[in-house]
Amino acid sequence: MSKKIVVAIDGFSSCGKSTMAKELARTSGYIYVDTGAMYRAVSLYCIENGLMTDTDMDVHELEKQMPNMHISFQSSIEGKTEVYLNGENVESKIRTLAVANGASRVSTLGFVRRELVRQQQLMGLQKGIVMDGRDIGTVVFPNAELKIFLTAAPEIRAQRRFAEMTEKGENQSFEDVLANVIERDDRDVNRAESPLRKAEDAIEIDNSTITLDEQRQILKTLFDQKVL
Ligand code: DC
Repeated sequence: MSKKIVVAIDGFSSCGKSTMAKELARTSGYIYVDTGAMYRAVSLYCIENGLMTDTDMDVHELEKQMPNMHISFQSSIEGKTEVYLNGENVESKIRTLAVANGASRVSTLGFVRRELVRQQQLMGLQKGIVMDGRDIGTVVFPNAELKIFLTAAPEIRAQRRFAEMTEKGENQSFEDVLANVIERDDRDVNRAESPLRKAEDAIEIDNSTITLDEQRQILKTLFDQKVL
C-alpha cells in the first residue's frame, strides 16, 4: 500500500497552482486545500463589514473581529471544494479583483497569518493532503514530503489571466492585468511576514513554456517517487 504524504505547492499568483493541486488531489484521492481562498475570505469579510476600503484598513478592528470569522471547506455535488465564510458559500464572491487585492493586503498581517496557519496545520494532521499557497513549504508544513515551487514569467501569467477575464466578459486592459500581477508579486515577495520564497528542498517548475500535459507528467513522477 502506498503511504500518505503532505504535498505543498507554492508559487506566484496565476501560475496555475490550484489547477495542478486540484488535479493531483483528485487523482490521488487526497484532500485539496486552497489557502489563498482563506485569505480571500478574510478580505471579503473586511469589505462586507466596512473594515477595508481601497485605501484604508482598520487593522485594530480586524484583529478584534478575527475570532468571528469561521472559514471552512465543503465539497459541492460535482466534487468541487468550495469555501464557506460563517456558513455562507462564498466561492464565487471571493474570485473578484477587489477581493484578491484585499487578500493581498490582509495577508501581510501577522495575526491573520498566524490564525490561518494554525487552521491549515490542523487540516494536515492526517496527511493525504495537497495544499497550495505561498508559505506552505516554508511555514505551514516545513516537513512536507513533496514541495513544489511553481513559477512562470509575469507576462505569461498576465496573458493567461487576461484571457480568462476576457472570456468571463470582464473589461480590463492587458496592461492593467500585468500591473496587478506585478504589484501582487511585489507584495508577496517583500512582505515582512512569511514572504513568498522557495523552500530549500522544494522542486522548482517553471511552466512558462511547458504544456499542461508535460507539467502533469513531471508532477506524477515526483509524487510516485515519494509514495511508492
Ligand atoms: O492564491 P490567491 O491569489 O488566491 O491568494 C490570494 C492572496 O493571499 C495573495 O495575495 C497571496 C495571499 N496568500 C498568502 O499570503 N499565503 C497563502 N498561503 C496563500 C495566499
